[in-house]
Amino acid sequence: MSICFDEKNKTLTLHTRSSSYQMQCGPLGYLLHLYYGKRAEGSFDYLYLPRDCGFSPNPHALRDTRGWSLDTLPQEYSGACCGDYRLSALEVVTDRGVRGADLRYVRHRCSPGKYTLPGLPCALDPDGEAESLTVTLADAASGVEVELCYAVFPQQDVIARSAVIHNRGSSPVYLEQAASLCLDLPFGTWELLRFHGRHCMERQPERLPLPRGITEVSSLRGMSGHQQNPFAVLCAPGAGEEEGTCIGVMPLWSGSHRTAVEVDQSGGLRLVSGIHPAQFRWRLEPGECFAAPETLLAFSDRGLGQLSRVLHRFIRNNICRGPFARAPRPVLLNSWEAAYMDFDADRLLTIARGARDLGVELFVLDDGWFGARDDDNRALGDWFPSPTKLPGGLEPLIEKINALGLKFGLWVEPEMVSEDSALYRAHPDWVLAAPGREPVMGRNQLVLDLCRPEVVDWLYGTLAGLLSRCSISYIKWDCNRCLADLYSPFLPPERQGEVSCRYMLGLYRLLDRLTRAFPQVLFEGCAGGGGRFDAGMLAYCPQIWCSDDTDPVERLSIQYGTSFGYPLSAMGAHVSAAPNHQTGRSSPLGTRFVTAMSGAFGYELDPGALTEAEKEEIRSQIRRCRRFAGLLCDGDYYRLTGAPEQGDWSAWLLVSPDRSEALLSVVRFHPRANPAPLHLFLRGLDPEAAYALEETDVYGNVVRGDPVAGQGEDAPALHARFSGAALMYGGYTLPPLFGDAPSAQLYFQKQ
Ligand code: DGJ
Repeated sequence: MSICFDEKNKTLTLHTRSSSYQMQCGPLGYLLHLYYGKRAEGSFDYLYLPRDCGFSPNPHALRDTRGWSLDTLPQEYSGACCGDYRLSALEVVTDRGVRGADLRYVRHRCSPGKYTLPGLPCALDPDGEAESLTVTLADAASGVEVELCYAVFPQQDVIARSAVIHNRGSSPVYLEQAASLCLDLPFGTWELLRFHGRHCMERQPERLPLPRGITEVSSLRGMSGHQQNPFAVLCAPGAGEEEGTCIGVMPLWSGSHRTAVEVDQSGGLRLVSGIHPAQFRWRLEPGECFAAPETLLAFSDRGLGQLSRVLHRFIRNNICRGPFARAPRPVLLNSWEAAYMDFDADRLLTIARGARDLGVELFVLDDGWFGARDDDNRALGDWFPSPTKLPGGLEPLIEKINALGLKFGLWVEPEMVSEDSALYRAHPDWVLAAPGREPVMGRNQLVLDLCRPEVVDWLYGTLAGLLSRCSISYIKWDCNRCLADLYSPFLPPERQGEVSCRYMLGLYRLLDRLTRAFPQVLFEGCAGGGGRFDAGMLAYCPQIWCSDDTDPVERLSIQYGTSFGYPLSAMGAHVSAAPNHQTGRSSPLGTRFVTAMSGAFGYELDPGALTEAEKEEIRSQIRRCRRFAGLLCDGDYYRLTGAPEQGDWSAWLLVSPDRSEALLSVVRFHPRANPAPLHLFLRGLDPEAAYALEETDVYGNVVRGDPVAGQGEDAPALHARFSGAALMYGGYTLPPLFGDAPSAQLYFQKQ
């Protein structure tokens, strides 16, 4: 049993393999949070002594004793305007203008399996391990009831949470905030690890001590955004890759979000996570309910590395759906950096033929194939083949590409429309735009109003038509601007505060319908690279284009940061041309491969521009990638070095779940004169077992055997044997690697 109710103490305890989580129905029915931490039995109510704290008020019924205040006690789901001045999880305003939420326990219910949240991405329970708990709280003044939903995944150290708000009263109410979860950690000191970024440099880790007051991770862009990824981690001070307590907060939400962390007057921490409350106001009619997006709490008492592995497994097993969730993905070649929008059918076929000769399995036609799309100022919304570039349509092109033995994939950006498009001319009222205001433009495009069911239906019909008519195996779903004009002509004035949220619900509805109707199609998410890289999108798209920056050295930082929360199988990563189109840097083809193959792998270049030697190298890369495909989609990932900014080389390791195989990747991105050899400690191996170094590949622009490079006599010896313990505790030493961004890959196999 992973959920226990203790009748005597009125405690509800959730246990996973390594963690325990406890709440208690306290005085007056207030639901107190008692504990979340390393697994422990018993009731934690002894921790909370009566306290008369100045300027922390008392509930009316306890006014005489004064030793009890909502402001000083940990709450399970904090209300508002009820004497707790810390962050609220719920804020309700009645139609009479009464603001607040004073939440008291009503009942609870435990059930086997995982609760569901219709219309929202949700964790699944494929292994049948989950148990669910619903605790109902009520606010008498507004008639609002809150169902706090918990699903415990005991084997995976994950607890999924959500809150469903019901209006049980007889008048409408407004929700001004409806968080997915509140987590109070009244004791100890915590640091916040968050992931900031920008277009072309997403998810850069930033770890900060938490000052008094509020610190947050947020986006008001209507999308999770390049700038602050919704994933955040609370770390105990000193927690590192291998040691210490960490709690990961992973929202399954792709719109505006906020995870706010407050350190209160006594040093206690409260975290509230959910839809960003700014620009949010949801009207609930009597009898209606609103479900806050699901958010995962993941626990590790063995550092950030373990936390990442917990989340990687959970995302692969319980979030991603469909046949590609855990399966090797086809090696693709994407036309974007090969031709941009400058192509016709012949040029595409030439690129596709070149791709086939390299061993590629899937050819992806990126932007530029539809309507009058000769540049990015026009034609979004006109999802029919360009009459000038593809006069015969898509079908004959796809047939020819299929005849080459390649599958075909297509780029779309369904949520957007250009002013210069047939769609906009026909339906100017289908965009988000506020009356009396010029709409904000982003990449010269407008955002379709996905609050409007007919727009979602039209998009479904258009895309389903394409997928039914043509043999399309893959869709790249792009989104190249943020939301700005949060006004939907479809909604009445009192519902305009719902626009940003309804937009995302419309998108989820569309993606859900399409992915259910076409389960054999692999969907890759994208938003100008990694602008909507989140666990909500991963429920529909098992991979997301990680960044528009394909420079392998830049990618080391981006993929390093991304790896804290998301598995390698989710990170779209391609080998592109040198010099790189974003940075102008030239790096060895092998290093571009080593970086990209630690992701959902592909190419983004013109095969016609390659030398014969490069083509041969790519053929062997693809063979290699296929061979390690299992490790890449199922292996345990270990970061062996810190953030690339802090060093001059990066190393990471993939270990198969049965610990029989390990693939070590190393890139030296900053050459050094008189360098020391590279030493690292392997992890995750079987200490008792013997491992042989079965393959060693060194990539660089300096020939092997060059004595200065240290790649000759001191190159790693093939078939050398080591114990797992030796590789982990003594480590492994590599020659220093020489030249511009050289790299190495070493494959160890258990004997
Ligand atoms: C942004 C994407 O991230 C790129 O890969 C490419 O698809 C362009 N959009 C096309 O406009």
